[in-house]
Amino acid sequence: MTDALENLTYEERRFPPSAEFAANANLKEDAYAAAQGDPLAFWAEQAERLDWHTKWDTVLDWSNPPFAKWFVGGRLNASYNCLDRHVAAGLGDRVAYHWEGEPQGESREITYAQLKDEVCQAANALIELGVKTGDRVAIYMPMIPETIVAILACARLGAPHTVVFGGFSADALASRISDCHAEVIITADGGYRRGSASALKPAVDEACDKVGIVRKVIVVRRTGSEVAWHDERDVWWHDLVARQSTEHECEFFDSEHPLYVMYTSGTTGQPKGILHTTGGYLVGCAYTQWGIFDLKPESDVYWCTADVGWVTGHSYMVYGPLANATTSVIYEGTPDSPHKGRWWEVCEKYGVTLFYTAPTAIRTFMRWGDDIPAKYDLSKIRLLGSVGEPINPEAYVWYRTVIGGEQVPVVDTWWQTETGAVMMSPLPGVTAAKPGSAMRSIPGIEVDVVDNDGQSVPDGSGGFLVVKRPWPAMLRTIWGDDDRYVDTYWSRFEGMYFAGDGAKKDEDGDIWILGRVDDVMNVSGHRLSTTEIESALVSHPKVAEAAVVGAKDDTTGQAVCAYVILREVAAPTDAAAGEALIQELRQHVAHEIGAIAKPRQIMLVPELPKTRSGKIMRRLLRDIAEKREVGDVTTLADSSVMDLISTEAKGSTD
Ligand code: WTA
Repeated sequence: MTDALENLTYEERRFPPSAEFAANANLKEDAYAAAQGDPLAFWAEQAERLDWHTKWDTVLDWSNPPFAKWFVGGRLNASYNCLDRHVAAGLGDRVAYHWEGEPQGESREITYAQLKDEVCQAANALIELGVKTGDRVAIYMPMIPETIVAILACARLGAPHTVVFGGFSADALASRISDCHAEVIITADGGYRRGSASALKPAVDEACDKVGIVRKVIVVRRTGSEVAWHDERDVWWHDLVARQSTEHECEFFDSEHPLYVMYTSGTTGQPKGILHTTGGYLVGCAYTQWGIFDLKPESDVYWCTADVGWVTGHSYMVYGPLANATTSVIYEGTPDSPHKGRWWEVCEKYGVTLFYTAPTAIRTFMRWGDDIPAKYDLSKIRLLGSVGEPINPEAYVWYRTVIGGEQVPVVDTWWQTETGAVMMSPLPGVTAAKPGSAMRSIPGIEVDVVDNDGQSVPDGSGGFLVVKRPWPAMLRTIWGDDDRYVDTYWSRFEGMYFAGDGAKKDEDGDIWILGRVDDVMNVSGHRLSTTEIESALVSHPKVAEAAVVGAKDDTTGQAVCAYVILREVAAPTDAAAGEALIQELRQHVAHEIGAIAKPRQIMLVPELPKTRSGKIMRRLLRDIAEKREVGDVTTLADSSVMDLISTEAKGSTD
């Protein structure tokens, strides 16, 4: 690092692309002007990245906002765009995925031709089970190649998939299956995580019992562990899929045909089913994968470490890379299995050139020490990406220096399940990036920061993050709930999409995301709703009331902290009983939602701070959880409550 840089704080540093990177970059500076001048023409040009069976006649129909239609009249098939056309173009032997299992020595290479064959077989299998266009199929899988095959087989049939993260509990799975009425589930006996087999099928069995609508469960054998079996409902993947034909003529669907539903946490207890449709979504993924990651499909090896159960896994592990005929890496397990250098070993093994991960992982690696990545050859990496939560400048500089060898651009990409694709990011060949800032909207997108009245704030001020124009990969609605779609996203500011994030513009007009302004937490880059966890706690028979806040955490960004008032009869008799009860409640949340939602800390308190109108003042609870001086309590109904809670909190442990 040069001396000049060392005199600056992390935040003040600027990292322009090298001259060589800039000269060869896919997206150049002029893209901004082109998109600004005629956004629809710009998007029409991006849509040419896909193969349309029937071309659209209108780029955007915004006659009934906020219900958008993109590439109206166009017909296409997402699976055909990800597979068939590449094989037809002679790329059948190109590796689509290098799959690396968690147990060392287990790996598989899948070419585009092989992937197409397997997807056709799986599509034929789904047809045999009676799946028709428009039917929803739930996917609850580990990170194995069959998961990608399952996703693309659904897309091929126009049967919207809903992938549920494998870490979610049976209850969470059941509520998602029931909300979108999925009668078929694709799952596995389990997968490998942290050095051992972790089961999935029991949660599916439990969810099926709960919802009573599931007709068929297809089960991939991954770990070989014993599973309970229901003869008329369950079928092994290897029995069903392997005997199918590798030929499947796909149908072409309307550009607005539903592609998938992805559930995400909102401000109420019930997760929202975010609906993405085919044409616009795929255009958004294909364009950003190519432009923001500067993808050169013939030479790059790309690795996005997200789980396929989240939107990043959909857009940047499946649809974006495949639409561009990319060679990607997928890794099944955790970064520390069997040793803390596993990710870097995988990078070295496959010669990864483009690497995309989340700040929480970066902070974990920082803590583990520079000597671990130093043991591996990471010299092929030429671009790094970050997603999911604000990246603190120190972690950004560490990432760029230790993993990127001080040479490579880092793209801090801001987007959401709802936006479908990246909305804000530096352009890797253009922008002098600032550590900690997602900078500004990418060409074609118009993001802004506005005040309470929806007025654009001047440089140097903060406010709410909004999107001012519709964009192709935007969500179309919340599954089955158009009103909630309008209320949640389009009612706060007239004519603008409200993202739920707070942000500030710096003196240059570059945007820094400050985090959520609603009751959504961001824990290790995963979205969790405070209300959902509160409901889970209150469903325990010993709990009378609960309040949950996200408190700052050095590794996970935020951590779940819960304040619980017990029912009188449940009061623990001594400290040991109290501790046991806290563990019981943490387990209960894991059972209701999933291990990711388990509170880091639970405090048993006699009261909760409430306003006179009965609203819990989470701000004060956050002060306590973050061990700050408690702020203004004048609006509290009873301000002595805070003394009571502070005393209890001091006595509690993590
Ligand atoms: C946060 C993940 C700062 C933000 C793709 C957003 C970010 C939420 C960034 C969406 C970033 C995502 N910088 N914050 N680069 N990327 N976020 O739906 O609060 O799981 O609203 O989508 O993550 O989370 P979601």
